[in-house]
Parts: sequence; C-alpha cells; structure tokens
Amino acid sequence: MHEDAIELAKSLPKAELHMHLEGALQPELIFKFVGRNGRDLPYRSIEELRAKYEFTNLQDFINVYLVGFNSLASAEDYEDLANDYCEHAQAENITHAEVFIEAQAGSSMTGTPLEAILGGCIRAAEEWKKRGVELLLIPTFLRHLSENEALKSLDELEPYYDNIVGIGLASAEVGFPPENFRRLFDLARELGLHTVAHAGEEGPPEYVWGALDDLGVERIDHGNRAIEDPVLVSRLARDQIPLTMCPLSNLRLCVVDDLRNHPLKKFLDAGIKATVNSDDPAYFGGYLNTNFEEIIKALNLSTGDVRELVQNAHDASFEAI
Ligand code: ADE
Ligand code: ZN
Repeated sequence: MHEDAIELAKSLPKAELHMHLEGALQPELIFKFVGRNGRDLPYRSIEELRAKYEFTNLQDFINVYLVGFNSLASAEDYEDLANDYCEHAQAENITHAEVFIEAQAGSSMTGTPLEAILGGCIRAAEEWKKRGVELLLIPTFLRHLSENEALKSLDELEPYYDNIVGIGLASAEVGFPPENFRRLFDLARELGLHTVAHAGEEGPPEYVWGALDDLGVERIDHGNRAIEDPVLVSRLARDQIPLTMCPLSNLRLCVVDDLRNHPLKKFLDAGIKATVNSDDPAYFGGYLNTNFEEIIKALNLSTGDVRELVQNAHDASFEAI
C-alpha cells in the first residue's frame, strides 16, 4: 500500500540536512579506531556495545554517544568515518549532505586536534564532491557548556571558516535555553556563516521561539514541540523556517511514543517546510531511506508528501545543488 511512496523516496536525489557525523560511527568503526589508536573502551565486543543502544531520553543517548567518539583520534579516523557515511549517502541517492561535526567536544573533551577533525572531513568532502556527493560541514557547539567556551571554540576554528557552511547548537537541551548563546550566533553571522539550532526536541516551544528570536537561526533542528503552540506553528509557516525532523531518532529517544503520533504531517499541512533526516543513523536503526520508509508507513504519506519533503530539503539547503 505504501510501496509507491517508499520507492519514490528511495529513487529521488535527496538532500540530508540533519546528521551528526559522530552519530554515523558504526560499532565496527569504533572497534577499528580503538585498535588503531591503542585506546580503551568500556565494552569488550560489538555485541556488548550494541546492547547499550536502548535509550529512554536524549541524555541517555549522549552518554553512550560520547563513549563512541572517544575512539576518534586522527585525521585518518575522521576521513574514514566521513567516507563511510558518504558511501551510505551515495547508495541512498543523497547528493547533498550538510553534516554536523563535534568540533568543540572533539577537541576539548577527547583532545583530538581540530586539524585532525576538520582535516580528515575536508579531505573526504573533496573526494566525494568528484563522486557526486556534496558534503558540507556544520560544527556544533555544546549547549550544556558556557557561551565563553563556545566562543573560544569558534575562534579556534578560524583557519577553517572557509571550509564550514554554518554553526549549530546541540547536546542536552532542557535547562540550556538558546538565549544563553546570543553572542555566539551574532558573531557567526558577522563571519558570514549560516546558523541552525536544535530546539523543541525535548525542550518546550519557548526554546523554539528563543532559537528564532534570540539566535536568529535559519533552520530549526527537530522542532517537534512547536506543535504545542499554534502561534509558533503560524510563525514557522509565515517565515518559511525549515524543520529538520528525524523520525527514528524521535522514536528511539522517546520524543514520540509511537511514529503514528509524529507531528511531521501536521507541520506539512500547516504549510511548514518540514524535512526528513537521520540524526544519528548508527544509533537509531537506519539511514535516511529507512527514516522515509518508517514515517511513510506510520503517517500514510502519499507520493505527493514525499515529493514535498524531498523538495523542502533541497530548498532549505545552504548551497545550491
Ligand atoms: N547530538 C547528537 N544527536 C543529538 C540530538 N538528537 N539532539 C541533541 N544533540 C545531539
Ligand atoms: Zn541532531
């Protein structure tokens, strides 16, 4: 019954706008990098690691996610990781991907030099551009740390300003409202960078308002809880603010109890530019096409809905495809 819509989603050239590169770190790669770098892991096998992939909320996930990216240490690791994602992207007809990278966490928490993080990703992006996948980089800042630490991290990225397309705000949301990061986002804009922020994933509609009015972001990552505020829904529609939604992530992090209750179709019907994305595909059970497949089945999406979702992502992307 949903076959036509699923086949269409698979076959169309697509843009993916919400995918954390470290969230594409498959257990096999974690063990490969740990072996190569002589680092320790609290898990003895891939099975033992995978057994931890049961989450009840965002923080639960972040705790496991941080262990995984401790395995990353060199430019070669980041290049391999980006190559692995781009292989999946190409197999799924993704021609344009704007991916988040944990520049602040990578350098400040695990001590990996920015030259390794950015250098490896840039090498992969140059190679995949020739092969038909455009990979753009969006460093994210950690909202549970201070704005001054984020500003320091943005400053350290200076040699790479021409290699990144924008900045994002991610990590634990509740208790860390967008308005804490006004100076960071003002500065990024002055530098000519695009701006996006996670908001309304677990946090209330006020955080989506804050991302729009205090940070001036061009896209909202997730935005689920905007559905609770009809005035906010009208604002997102009026200003054509894209939402980069992630169905399987929302299910696995218990943002929705059932995909049939996912707000994506309600946003489309309200005239909002909603898009489908995979967020952290190694952790949530699938890449972009699986996200399309599951949300098509759960919400009875039509081929028209699929065309609209795919077009929305192309329209919302930061560089013309
Ligand atoms: N970092 C990686 N995935 C995330 C998510 N879903 N929300 C917030 N921060 C993240
Ligand atoms: Zn995300």
